[in-house]
Amino acid sequence: MTNFVVPKHDHATLTFPDGFLWGTATSAHQVEGNNIHNDWWAWEQKQPKEARSELACDHCNRFEDDFDLAKSLNHNSHRLSIEWSRIEPVEGQFDETEIEHYKKVLQSLKQKGFTVMLTLHHFTNPTWITDKGGWENRKTPMYFERFVDKIVPELRDWVDLWVTINEPTIYVWHNYHNPKWPFFKKNLWGEVKTYLNLVSAHKRAYKIIHRLTKNKPVGFAHNVQTYQSFHTHSLREQLGVIIADWITNYLFLFLTRGYHDFLGINYYFHHHLSCDNSFFPKEVDIRPFTKSVTDLGWEIYPEGMFSILTDMADHLPIYITECGIATSNDDRRIRFLMQYLEEINKAIKAGVNVKGFFYWSLLDNFEWADAFDPKFGLVEVDFTTLKRTPRPSAFIYADIIKCNGIRHELMKFLGHRINADDVIEIPGVGEIKEPT
Ligand code: BGC
Repeated sequence: MTNFVVPKHDHATLTFPDGFLWGTATSAHQVEGNNIHNDWWAWEQKQPKEARSELACDHCNRFEDDFDLAKSLNHNSHRLSIEWSRIEPVEGQFDETEIEHYKKVLQSLKQKGFTVMLTLHHFTNPTWITDKGGWENRKTPMYFERFVDKIVPELRDWVDLWVTINEPTIYVWHNYHNPKWPFFKKNLWGEVKTYLNLVSAHKRAYKIIHRLTKNKPVGFAHNVQTYQSFHTHSLREQLGVIIADWITNYLFLFLTRGYHDFLGINYYFHHHLSCDNSFFPKEVDIRPFTKSVTDLGWEIYPEGMFSILTDMADHLPIYITECGIATSNDDRRIRFLMQYLEEINKAIKAGVNVKGFFYWSLLDNFEWADAFDPKFGLVEVDFTTLKRTPRPSAFIYADIIKCNGIRHELMKFLGHRINADDVIEIPGVGEIKEPT
């Protein structure tokens, strides 16, 4: 006798809490265009034309239309950043025209009814900061503090949630471990100084924002990563997982404890650690073992979202400040979106206080050292004409937002996975008699 296995289907919409924030995230240098006073721009000028941001999406001039588009796709919130180098192109000299520009940008969002999350630092620095030694300089947190002190009163009327720094740990990683990034150099002491200066900058900005605003939550956008051992029974690999998890996910939080009103999570990476070719665990290139990778070779691992959310639940509210896929196949983006949202939904049902989701990104944009090749956008951008065309995934996301959840039909046809955890055995149901 054999039992059928019956998948659990409740045919209901996977609903999200009332007031859930749905939107997308962008960053200034990646979409605005002509950010001529920052360190990335300076580096790009020495690269071939296709590696330069140049006009990017020309969002600087097209923000009204872009926000209208996001509104028409039902988004109720938007995460964006301001460009320090536009506002303070020369040390201590603030450009009032640029401040007015950002006021208009934020006003436009508020007039259209968006909840606004504003990031103050997203990877780029004014060139005068670089000339002074960048974030290795112990005075840089003070320069940042002066900038924050100036800009917060100017913009506070239109900002609902503040993000001090985007992915400080990734900023450190790229500058000291990734030869593809322009500011890469091997220098352990420089790395430690940069890390600690970013800790200090976050704390200073947190205090200033609270001094200058009333009851506006402040946090940072943290790049959280998941790890697993390549071999189930390797103690050394398991130890590697514990150490990597603590350093990547918890160290910055530990050093800034008490300085967060919410936790912003950017989730992109899942790693497998192996001791096959070395004594200490090293990352395995997973590509030969799975087809489930993005165009950038990053593993697609929705379960990781559930794992980090339950792991980091703590007592702070959580916003997914970024999660997205680089793919030229929009069907994959649709499946990605639904699978990751399903995991978030599971975490919410398990009691995690997740309050919003910002897909990365609204538009195809300038993806740093990979320039314009990776396609992260719900909206396609033709970089010759700058025409915007929403992809099917943009309409699927619009449907999810409209229902404040994922309808069963969408899940069934576009995102469904039946895996071991979803399967139950009902004794006696569907019994098949073995032939005698
Ligand atoms: C960064 C974005 C970047 C995205 C995709 C995040 O780490 O905040 O600037 O475009 O990842 O790589």
